[in-house]
Amino acid sequence: MEIIYTKKELIQYRDNCRISNKTIGFVPTMGALHMGHISLVQQAQKNVDNVIASIFINPTQFNNKDDFKNYPSTIDQDIELLIQYGCNAVFIPTVDEIYGQYDYQPFTVDLGDLGNIFEGEKRPGHFDGVIEILHILFELLQPNQVYMGLKDYQQVMVVEKLLQNNDVPIQLIKCATIREKDGLAISSRNKRLSPEERETALNLFKSMSEIKEKYPFSDISILKKSYFNQLNSIDNIEVEYIDIVDSQTLKSINSWNPPGKNLILIAAFVGKVRLIDNLLF
Ligand code: PAF
Repeated sequence: MEIIYTKKELIQYRDNCRISNKTIGFVPTMGALHMGHISLVQQAQKNVDNVIASIFINPTQFNNKDDFKNYPSTIDQDIELLIQYGCNAVFIPTVDEIYGQYDYQPFTVDLGDLGNIFEGEKRPGHFDGVIEILHILFELLQPNQVYMGLKDYQQVMVVEKLLQNNDVPIQLIKCATIREKDGLAISSRNKRLSPEERETALNLFKSMSEIKEKYPFSDISILKKSYFNQLNSIDNIEVEYIDIVDSQTLKSINSWNPPGKNLILIAAFVGKVRLIDNLLF
């Protein structure tokens, strides 16, 4: 596996792929890799010639300094895992390499309401940071496809907007959330949960599954309130939001949508660790 540290080498890699007519699939990550990331690599391997991941804990997308400081970093294991699963290359820049000689205009996308709700509301500036880094990486690498996990459902919608609004010819491949056997959505942040907290965190998926079971019979607003209260009453859980929304607009719904278009969105602290999850049905 090729390990690339500089923008210059990344451009070279892209040009070599072009010259040899090889398509590129891109898996952007912040490291602390797990089977969720590997599933993105594996899906990309089915569709493109070369799969390249990036590992970069992007400071500009953290609205909370502690979250940035505590974000897990496991570079050596990450590289081993990518080699094991046959990834072709990985880009591991430093913050200075990315933002040091920042030689083009800061870049934003008008997200409309999407930028002000849920993660946009709770993590001010987060999506601006995500857009900024992905715009830089997309410009450098110009992949044919980018693979993103639906656990970050709203992020996937933001990236869709970034690509559409700017006519960027990169195909976004949305990949299913990978869960542990007991339902916990796999996330780099899970590494920070104690065994007890991990057990407590299972309540997020459990609640969403129970709500799904009640489709289409229960009253949506009563459901939302009762699960908010029920989850909040569990020791060590502090719910930020739990909502049932239209899967295409992320607007709260008061009456059910047809199957496949109802989405539960949840964000909660379990101890000090902020987790998000969602369920589409
Ligand atoms: O989902 C993530 O890990 C990050 O937001 C991303 C897409 C790699 C951008 O830094």
